[in-house]
Amino acid sequence: MLSKEMLAELNEQIKHEFASANYYLAMAAYFAEQGLDGFTNFFIVQAEEERFHAMKFFHFINDLGGKVEITGYEDPKRDFSSVEEVFQLALKHEQFVTARIHKLLDVAKNENHHPTMSFLQWFVDEQVEEEATMSGILDKIRLSGGAGPGLLFLDKELAGRSFTPPAGE
Ligand code: FEO
Repeated sequence: MLSKEMLAELNEQIKHEFASANYYLAMAAYFAEQGLDGFTNFFIVQAEEERFHAMKFFHFINDLGGKVEITGYEDPKRDFSSVEEVFQLALKHEQFVTARIHKLLDVAKNENHHPTMSFLQWFVDEQVEEEATMSGILDKIRLSGGAGPGLLFLDKELAGRSFTPPAGE
């Protein structure tokens, strides 16, 4: 059983996860237009991860007998000025999602709702990885000067990323 507030916050998070997927697809489209296939792949895979996150919330709400509410969200930013700007924004976005997850956990803790606290722990850990990934690539982009052979090398590296749902999901 979920409280009204907990259910509303969990449903709100479904919206943010799907909105994240759209945001990252817009970033993928920016890179695709420039022929940077590795960066394109990175953000297509990132969008798949975000949809996976959204569906984890979907199933959790269902499992606890709550009603999932699917809502719309704003159009994502589509125009970017540089590779560096994209990763700065992606990192900022992940920091926003981390704050959301922590807020959800605070609500669950206030209610002493153990199932939600346990469920959210996966996302607390996941957000540490999400921020580290964006921040690590941002560092490499800065080292490469955001252009030239360094950037192409990074593009090649990111082409190898693929999405595999964790075992048991
Ligand atoms: Fe679902 Fe990238 O956080």
